[in-house]
Order: sequence, then C-alpha cells, then structure tokens
Amino acid sequence: MQIHDTIAGLRGALKNAGRVALVPTMGNLHDGHIALMTQACDHADQVVATIFVNRLQFRPGEDFEKYPRTFAADCERLAAAGVGHLFAPDEAEMYPEPQTYQIEPPPEQANILDGEFRPGHFRGVATVVMKLFQIVQPDVALFGKKDYQQLMVIRNMVREFNSPIEIVGGETVRATDGLALSSRNGYLSAAERAEAPRLFRVLTKVVEAVRAGAQDWGVLERGAMSELQAGGWMPDYVALRKKLDLQLPSAHDSGLVVLAAARLGSTRLIDNLEV
Ligand code: PAF
Repeated sequence: MQIHDTIAGLRGALKNAGRVALVPTMGNLHDGHIALMTQACDHADQVVATIFVNRLQFRPGEDFEKYPRTFAADCERLAAAGVGHLFAPDEAEMYPEPQTYQIEPPPEQANILDGEFRPGHFRGVATVVMKLFQIVQPDVALFGKKDYQQLMVIRNMVREFNSPIEIVGGETVRATDGLALSSRNGYLSAAERAEAPRLFRVLTKVVEAVRAGAQDWGVLERGAMSELQAGGWMPDYVALRKKLDLQLPSAHDSGLVVLAAARLGSTRLIDNLEV
C-alpha cells in the first residue's frame, strides 16, 4: 500500500489507475471500515482510503482532540484488506487557507436529527467530502449506513452537483451483542459497554412493532426513549423517518428507518435500523 500525505503525490500515483473507489474515514479503523474496504475492492481497480480527522465537522466541546488516532494499526489493517493507496493529509494540506467556501446542505436535511443536536456538523462533512471528491476524483465512493443521515446528505449533494460519482452504502457491522461498531465505542467504560447493546434492542423493538402494523410513530418513539432512559441513557432522539429523505412519514408510509442518538455517560452513540 502506498501512503500519500500530499495531494500532488496522490494525484501522480493515481494516473492511469483505472476505476477508482474512495473510502473516506477518520481512522481508528474497525471491522465496519474494513468491510467497506473489502466491498470497495469489488467495485474498482484501485481502492483509495483516506484518514483525516476533520475539524470542520466537530463543534467546540466535542471530541475532536480526543478522537482516537491509531495510524500505524490502521495502515496494517488497510494493507491487509487490499487497499492500494492511503491518503492521510495533515490539516495544512487539506485546509491551507481558511476554508471560506463551504458546502451548506439544505436545512431540511442538515438541521434535523443529528444536525439539530450538532449544528454545522453536516456542513463540515459535506465540505470535506466534496474536497476529497475533487482531490481523488473517484468513480465510486463508499460510506457506512450507520451514519444514515450523512449518507443521505452525500447522495443528495452528488446528485445536485451532477457529480459522476456512484455512491454506495455499506451495511452496519455489529458486535455479536448487536452494538453497532463505532470508533466512539472505545470511550465506553466496561459497565457502559455492557449496557450499550440496549440501543440496538430498543430499535429492534420499534422495527418489530412497525412490521406488526403499529402506526402511531409518536407512541413508538416515546416508548423507545423511555426504555433508553430506564437504562440510564440520555436520548437526543428516537425517530421514525422515510428512508429516502428522512422526512416525517405519514400514517400509511412504508420504506421507513428508525434512527436514534443517545448519550451513555459522556459518550454519544448513534444507530439506526431500516424497517
Ligand atoms: O464518517 C466519517 O468517518 C466522516 O464523517 C467522513 C465521511 C470521513 C468525513 O470526515
């Protein structure tokens, strides 16, 4: 695997690379990331992974500084997964001047759900992803469905900018007890880690209720929030939404997804399940 820390170096290496797949990450790679890399290998001649902890998508007081940086271990995992190129720029390479031009996703997509609790987050995500698209110029890019709203924002951005990049969503990878793999799971204490699968169980219950015909979304959402609170969580939201645009479903809508974000101790976890 070739490791590049400059845009010029990466671009030079990708000349005549054939079909290129991009998998952007912030590092601290787990099996969910590696599944995306493996999936990417099936889509392209060359897979480019990126590792860049993007300050723009963190709010002051969030975990930008403590976000785990495990570069050597990440490189080993990427090479073993068949990734040909890793782009790992520093901040000066990605943002040599203040990034005054930014991508502002529409509020109905970016200010709901996670965007309501993390104002500006999706502007930061869309801006760095657009930069990575310009730098790598991939044919296809892969993102995990665990960040469901992020995937929707990126799909819509690509469509509205007529960008010729195919966007592929990867299924969420879970631990055997159901907890969705996430770099932030590493922040959990042993007791919190034992409690954490409750989030998946609560979402599963909502999905089962909808499949069984329940249609009062508010009752289901409030019930799920109470169950989380009973386990000591502080939920930001549990929300049933339409898969396509994450807007509120009406009573007879199908094609739904249930999404949740909740704090366990000082760790904020997100998860979702398609109905
Ligand atoms: O999902 C992530 O890890 C990040 O939001 C991404 C897409 C790499 C942009 O920084």
